[in-house]
Amino acid sequence: MTYIPARPNGLPDNYISGASWQFDKLRFFPRGRDALVFGLSAKIKKGGRVLFPAFFCARSLDLFTSYEFDVEWLDVCDDLSFGLDRLAERLDSGNIEAVVVSDFFGWSSQNMQKVIELAKERQILVIRDCCHSALSWQSEQIRADLTVFSFRKTLPVWDGGALIGCGSSPSSMQNSSLARDVRREVIRKLERALGHVGIINPYPVLDFVRRASAVASAEPEKLCDEIRPSRSLVRWLNNAGALHKVARTRRENFLFLQEALRPSGLSSLFPVLGEHDVPQVFPLKTPHASSLVKFLRSHGVGAVRWPGNELPSKVRASPEIFPMANEMNDLIACLPLHQDLERWELEKMASLVNEWSIAGS
Ligand SMILES: Cc1ncc(COP(=O)(O)O)c(C=O)c1O
Repeated sequence: MTYIPARPNGLPDNYISGASWQFDKLRFFPRGRDALVFGLSAKIKKGGRVLFPAFFCARSLDLFTSYEFDVEWLDVCDDLSFGLDRLAERLDSGNIEAVVVSDFFGWSSQNMQKVIELAKERQILVIRDCCHSALSWQSEQIRADLTVFSFRKTLPVWDGGALIGCGSSPSSMQNSSLARDVRREVIRKLERALGHVGIINPYPVLDFVRRASAVASAEPEKLCDEIRPSRSLVRWLNNAGALHKVARTRRENFLFLQEALRPSGLSSLFPVLGEHDVPQVFPLKTPHASSLVKFLRSHGVGAVRWPGNELPSKVRASPEIFPMANEMNDLIACLPLHQDLERWELEKMASLVNEWSIAGS
């Protein structure tokens, strides 16, 4: 059984010091969503209306309603960016106080600069959501009022919610939990060992647990407080060489997969990698995304759909208002391409996709 994990697990081979992130400009949280709510609470009043792309994961926004923000959706274009005319119209008519622009799957959103200008002309707060891929962000690039990150989606750490635009953390901040660091490390080792043994396909089990816990959990999400970053995250962020290598490997893996998937006739939603884009996944476009993901998971590949079942219910219920968000959600299968995958694993994954596609999906 092949096991091609969805997430990276490895530590860097060696530590090259050199901080590429300025800690004094960041505030840290367990998750990206905590950073987002913290930033919004600091900048707009309770009950404020926040505009999100309709292509989004509703679960990450459960917190918003409990923190009394009014979430509104705007449909996206076929590259997942906001259409400028439609955005301007909505900003003029909707009592919007803040707009969130997402760099989906690690690709910089088209029109980012224009969106920021449109919002600023109207004195509306702009939040750039770099949660999918923190390493795509360049400090010298155009600035939103707030920028949020979720390092845990790129690096093997349990935390990594972070925020730029609200100053730095107070020095009295509590240390983050050592126990969670240790637990993460134990799980990491276990996952690696199981993966190497290669006799268990964890995905059917994980899918079952996810379905069962979704049914069981009636608990609303809770906001987590600001924390000091975990020791592992600090080590990564102080290691410019290792971060550079992660970014380079993800870009190379994208290009490799792009070639290797040619026989399938399928391609990435974003065909071109911009100079600074660091992909989080390979967003493969296929009319049968759901069946491809099922097929790959049954073969031990950590493919996922995003947002999949977590597309906001209001968006899903109104395909006439949000046609593109619904369509794109049905069309995208996310293949892993993280830094820990080896060439043979990428080849294996590509040959599975090619085989599936040639066999007629
Ligand atoms: C686009 C986007 N933004 C923000 C978040 C929130 O990140 P986190 O899961 O770290 O709270 C997610 C989570 O999936 C996301 O996909």
